[in-house]
Amino acid sequence: MLNSILSKAETDGVLAVSDMRYLLELTDDADLKALFAAAYAVKRQYVGTKAFFRGIIEFSNICRKDCYYCGIRKSNGDVRRFDMEPEEIIDAAVWAHGNDYGSIVLQSGERCDAAFVDRIESVLLRIRERTNGDLGITLSLGEQERETYRRWFAAGAHRYLLRIETTSPILYAKLHPEDHRLDARLTCLEDLRKVGYQVGTGVMIGLPSQTVDDLIEDILFFLANDIDMIGMGPYIVHQDTPLASEVETFDERHQLLMGLKMIAVTRLVLRDVNIAATTALQALDHQGREAGLQAGANIIMPNVTDTKYRAAYQLYDNKPCTDENSSMCKGCLNRRITLIGESIGFGEWGDSPHYHRRMNHGATAAG
Ligand code: 5AD
Ligand code: FES
Repeated sequence: MLNSILSKAETDGVLAVSDMRYLLELTDDADLKALFAAAYAVKRQYVGTKAFFRGIIEFSNICRKDCYYCGIRKSNGDVRRFDMEPEEIIDAAVWAHGNDYGSIVLQSGERCDAAFVDRIESVLLRIRERTNGDLGITLSLGEQERETYRRWFAAGAHRYLLRIETTSPILYAKLHPEDHRLDARLTCLEDLRKVGYQVGTGVMIGLPSQTVDDLIEDILFFLANDIDMIGMGPYIVHQDTPLASEVETFDERHQLLMGLKMIAVTRLVLRDVNIAATTALQALDHQGREAGLQAGANIIMPNVTDTKYRAAYQLYDNKPCTDENSSMCKGCLNRRITLIGESIGFGEWGDSPHYHRRMNHGATAAG
């Protein structure tokens, strides 16, 4: 059974829902090894075995949202809020550029006031100027007006990550206050596509009451929406959040495995997209990100935020690398990636091949 599903997946990527369920429910070590090897073969064929770096700058934890799972939600009064100065953000971007990271990600809590929108626009313009437009820039700044997305695109950002978190309306409603709307997020993803961004989305894996069928729906959503980049990772409890009380026992190994299986099945089905091995994997296991690469991911997001701010950007408990500075992270990652026999795409943007294929075919799935 396993072999026939995997050889089918390796040849044409067409998997029935029952096949995906079978793969996501695997637990035996040898079976998991076979699954990850098949996903790795597809990754090698479609995107190669070069890992691309996106240096992530988590520049502020001020957030107007109140998601029940997130450590920096606005109702968490125990968080020391910070907001980096534009100069500090630009310096981190210039550091990433100087260290041959092809791309950066600017991420923060969600804000949409005019001062914030203007500030991001000016930071983007100044980064472009300081790096001669060489640096790929991804934004991960939540739900915004289409006009805001347009202005930031015009100022130099070209990729945007907006996780859908879950495609199940029932689960979405359980995880968020009523004014956080799944349909608003869907509209944002459409707007991003229309503006011209390479569009990334993703989900949390192993949420309380989430089923394997929910996760299959998530993968089918990525496929149906012609998504270019996937950033998804295991849900990890943050003690000072409402969702923590819904989790009786937190099984780290189970969460890690679910995260890896989702990467593998997503690679088998979507093939030519970029998939990140996210930090949440590493929070569960110090080899988690390498395991992610070996299960089909091809993107790593090293933290390049100044160490003094890192501890305050805790979306979940035990976030790793809060004490290491950016140079230490770079050295550590170089070693780890070389050890698993991959190279690093230094100085390259590492765009999603899916995006270019979509553009060359004049795909109009974006509408
Ligand atoms: N565990 C894992 N991921 C989380 N995120 C927020 N809180 C958690 C958590 N407790 C993720 C969300 C969000 C991204 C920035 O961080 O998916 O989109
Ligand atoms: Fe929504 Fe942090 S408050 S993800």
